[in-house]
Amino acid sequence: MFHVLLIHFIITSAFVNDAQVCSEKSTECMKSESEESRACPRIINREGWEARRALSSTLMPERPVRYVVVHHGGVPRYCYNRSSCSAILRSYQDHHLDNNHWSDIGYQFVIGEDGNVYQGRGWDKVGAHAPGYNSQSIGICVIGDFTERLPNALALTALHKLIECGIEMKKLRTDYRVIGHRQARNTQCPGNAFYQYVRKMPNWMNSPDLLLSS
Ligand SMILES: *[C@@H]1O[C@H](CO)[C@@H](O)[C@H](O)[C@H]1NC(C)=O
Repeated sequence: MFHVLLIHFIITSAFVNDAQVCSEKSTECMKSESEESRACPRIINREGWEARRALSSTLMPERPVRYVVVHHGGVPRYCYNRSSCSAILRSYQDHHLDNNHWSDIGYQFVIGEDGNVYQGRGWDKVGAHAPGYNSQSIGICVIGDFTERLPNALALTALHKLIECGIEMKKLRTDYRVIGHRQARNTQCPGNAFYQYVRKMPNWMNSPDLLLSS
């Protein structure tokens, strides 16, 4: 009898754990791309922010990738915890799928001021965020509007760590280049305050030297 109860308890606990896989405090949804390297920040996978499925995807034609393009969300909605960042992220994805008719959220990664990195298309898929650069860049967006102020220290640290992580995982070239979105097209993105910061990042490039493709 005791054995039966014990087994029942074990099975029940296993189920409960399963159901909690993506709760706020769980680490289960943070393993996608971060496990492979110590340089990597915590990366919340798509399940962790309840992403919709991508309609299609294309692999990067060449890896490691040459460019990082830095974006801001451009909407003055900010977030400081995983549930509210996930909600904003879903609104970005809805906009990209339903209004822009793209196949998925445009960015490879999105960073919140909660310090988390959220996986968009991920390292290996072509994004939709900077015409001319999409097939040779990783688009990283920080949630919020950074015209007047910088993203907080948690978000900036996550940005630097994500780039280091990309190099270590051989997703980014060691001689990678960083640009702000406004260098690729006529836009205010990533916001005046943030752009001044981007210009001082290591490997920032003044005049992009890419061969224009898609
Ligand atoms: C997350 O942040 C939102 C908005 O600031 C707040 O309303 C909510 O209570 C927070 N949730 C948790 C789990 O801390």
